[in-house]
Amino acid sequence: MIALEQELHSLLAEATTALDNVQTLPELEELKGRVMGRKGTLPALMAQLGQVPAADKPVVGKTINAVKQQLQNAFETRTGQLQAAGTSRRALDVSLPGRTRPLGHKHPITQVMEDAVAIFRRMGFIVADGPDLESVWHNFDALNSPQEHPSRTPEDTFYFDLDRKHWLDSDTTILRTHTSPVQIRYMLKQKPPVRIVCPGRCYRRDTPDATHGMSFHQIEGLYVDRNVSLADLKGTLALYAQEMFGKDAKVRFRPHFFPFTEPSVECDASCIICNGKGCRVCKGSGWLEIAGAGMVNPEVFRNVGYDPEITTGYAFGMGIERIAMIKYAISDLRLLYDNDLRFLHQF
Ligand code: PHE
Repeated sequence: MIALEQELHSLLAEATTALDNVQTLPELEELKGRVMGRKGTLPALMAQLGQVPAADKPVVGKTINAVKQQLQNAFETRTGQLQAAGTSRRALDVSLPGRTRPLGHKHPITQVMEDAVAIFRRMGFIVADGPDLESVWHNFDALNSPQEHPSRTPEDTFYFDLDRKHWLDSDTTILRTHTSPVQIRYMLKQKPPVRIVCPGRCYRRDTPDATHGMSFHQIEGLYVDRNVSLADLKGTLALYAQEMFGKDAKVRFRPHFFPFTEPSVECDASCIICNGKGCRVCKGSGWLEIAGAGMVNPEVFRNVGYDPEITTGYAFGMGIERIAMIKYAISDLRLLYDNDLRFLHQF
């Protein structure tokens, strides 16, 4: 074997050992340069082929090609190994930022509804439920709503069977316009005392705008016992306002009319945005309307078989969307229903 062939073989052996010891890709690149680069050992040896006697040239040429091929394979294999190790080392790098997993949360309407229910439960109310599809009797008649009341017309209420029935028939089916029919259903089944809240969805034929939708949520309250007074109602709503809006919240009553209560009031809470000083949200008045309420009308008690001579009670109803809008400073009701995550993620 001529000297050049020997040198080629020892280059292959040395380079392979060196390659095994290399631990990083930059080190490997450097070694590759020294062995196979333009001014590296291998090209230098290959250049010596010219001095080899012509008879030996084919054999030595073959050795050169074989060594070159083996070196190339060895470098490629080691590169692959180091790249793989590099990736797995990176996966173990505890200083890298973690992958955040987006976490869902409750819709603002659900949050406010659950908060309201929790507040009233702490005061001793229990939750009652009723159907969204109601009869005209439960939604209007039993609640002493006069037949000529405009809210009863198909322009204001969603009717289901007008092809077969008249909208004044007691057994015509509608989407409930408030949660008050749940009071009726509960009183028909239970004797006093009654202390319930009814959270739920209601439907009215309103044209959607910033403060109206065709469907919305209410929570209704009903307390029936002997000697219940308007002062009890005020105390309950005052405590509710403090729990919902903060310790400084005050309430006031304004006279109003509802067919199912007498006397009837509208309840305002002091504006939580300006603390009663007057701002854009409360339109300068310092107060925000939060509920309709009153003492249960004796006619309603008669309709459910209670004796109005010995039974007294108060009822109130409030819109959940309105409270969510006040609490979270939401200017347009429609945002609550658009399912736009950029909006919903803020809560
Ligand atoms: N049902 C009334 C409404 O939807 C609210 C209300 C409930 C008023 C109970 C008084 C008593 O506007």
